[in-house]
Amino acid sequence: MVSEIRRSILTALSSGGDQFLSGQELAEKAGCSRTAIWKHIEDLRQAGFVIESKRKKGYRLVSKGDSIKESDLLLGLKTETLGRTVHYFESVESTQKIAHQLAQEKAPEGTLVIAEEQVTGRGRMARQWHSPKGTGIWMSLLLRPLLPPQKAPQFTLIAAVAIVEAIKEVCELKVDIKWPNDLLIEGRKVTGILTELQADSEQIHSLIIGMGINVNQSREDFPSELSSIATSLAIEGNRQFSRSSLIQAIMKNLETYYAIYMEEGFVPIKAKWESYAVTIGRTITARTLNDEITGYASGITEEGVLLLVDQSGKTHKIYSADIE
Ligand code: BTN
Repeated sequence: MVSEIRRSILTALSSGGDQFLSGQELAEKAGCSRTAIWKHIEDLRQAGFVIESKRKKGYRLVSKGDSIKESDLLLGLKTETLGRTVHYFESVESTQKIAHQLAQEKAPEGTLVIAEEQVTGRGRMARQWHSPKGTGIWMSLLLRPLLPPQKAPQFTLIAAVAIVEAIKEVCELKVDIKWPNDLLIEGRKVTGILTELQADSEQIHSLIIGMGINVNQSREDFPSELSSIATSLAIEGNRQFSRSSLIQAIMKNLETYYAIYMEEGFVPIKAKWESYAVTIGRTITARTLNDEITGYASGITEEGVLLLVDQSGKTHKIYSADIE
């Protein structure tokens, strides 16, 4: 846990940009002595922050490192609610599982569970989600919208739009959406979203949006069965990216779109989603758990359900499937 003093030093250094700040200036901002500053800077370096120091000039922040601990996520987070309560873990079975427990224990809306590694990360359709240590973003966000459970699938699409735009802002990479929840770069999967809920027949109690983002993996980091179908932002962008910056951008976008959705409904989100989707307007095959339908993907409904028109002209509503 970063102390208040270290948090103030970091805030000052971050807002200083490329400028050096003297030990005296930092001491004044942080409310401690100049000699204490040196010790705190050393502790911050130990925690992964790269801080340059120059005689007679002072200190400047070169890199925030790639830490996703609570303190690093909160520093620079521009949201009111989402991601304001963080539960960080080195290793977990699944962040979804922990988020479900926290939801039962009345954790507040916006609670974020994040881990460096998941040993049994969960994907859609009972699949495993490969979540190796330190390279990706494996996180679950708890929301408590006052809505009926039928609305839950829309949140997968809201999250997809928020993540696509965050990746564009932070990494300058173009991402496509494959219905309902796959984010692809050049046809390879970079992100998966898994929305789960606790509800009764009328009301959602808690909605848990699980997001898995391949950020800094190299090609060799993927097991052979994934190497042709998965990719990472680092592979596509030819450089490493800050996971904390990306998480902060996702939280900000999600908060914005969540508010728009609660005020104006799904229509504005649907339009955004369709502008990034590659599934619509094509002939595709949808494999559900016990069926396979080939047809023309004519669009999505207001609920986020995919509409597939088969050869006989019959329209099928697809709630959950693998798309080819
Ligand atoms: C998919 O199958 O495409 C969805 C993958 C969702 C993976 C994320 S990683 C964080 C959260 N915890 C899990 O166990 N799964 C989701």
